Amino acid sequence: MRVLIAPSILAADWGRLAEEVERVEEGGADWLHIDVMDGHFVPNLSFGPKVVADLKRRSKLLFDVHLMVSNPLRVIPMFIDAGADLLTIHIETVSQDELEEAIEAVKKEGLMMGVALKPGTDWRRLTPFFDRIDLILPMTVEPGFSGQRMIVDVLPKMKLISEEAKRRGSPRYIEADGGINLENVRMVVEAGANAIVVGSAVFGSPDPKEAVRSLKAQLSSPSSSM
Ligand code: DX5
Ligand code: ZN
Repeated sequence: MRVLIAPSILAADWGRLAEEVERVEEGGADWLHIDVMDGHFVPNLSFGPKVVADLKRRSKLLFDVHLMVSNPLRVIPMFIDAGADLLTIHIETVSQDELEEAIEAVKKEGLMMGVALKPGTDWRRLTPFFDRIDLILPMTVEPGFSGQRMIVDVLPKMKLISEEAKRRGSPRYIEADGGINLENVRMVVEAGANAIVVGSAVFGSPDPKEAVRSLKAQLSSPSSSM
């Protein structure tokens, strides 16, 4: 399966957000990754639903909304209304029953559903849900900030999750998020990721459009071991 690139606007210049999105769209980005933070589940604060709705009118990209919030059930309807295409919640923020409820709320509106795990979180609690979700995101940094280094110790867990997903035929996407750049992107792909979030390595570069192009070229180059 083709590997998708999802630039994370957390690392963009928010003073000219629409232009930043336009640049990565021109560079061939597949998804737009939008990090929602509540200052509670993670120490940082970021975007609310209005940013998603306003950008949605200006972009054709698939909107991949990563909810780093406590009590995600409270905000899921707001992001559905705002135009998210994929909603990912953190397993650490919900009970098994609440996870059921979240999947139901998202899927019945026709969106894709994802579940993220912090680097230290055991993934096996998720096994009963593999068939009913679209994406698993084993985070490669502690959630909260862009510009951190990738925690390579997460890669064996990512590999186990992706093998289990392949065996069961679901979920379709394994996403990698945190500290990914041109030098290490192949490592996460080798661990089974097929949707790659890139923040600072795209928006922190002098030419974000070119940065997306280089990542895509890197993944399709013949020297790739994929
Ligand atoms: C971190 C966020 C990431 C972040 C990635 O909590 O989930 O999406 O923006 O940024 P980089 O690629 O700079 O680690
Ligand atoms: Zn993210």
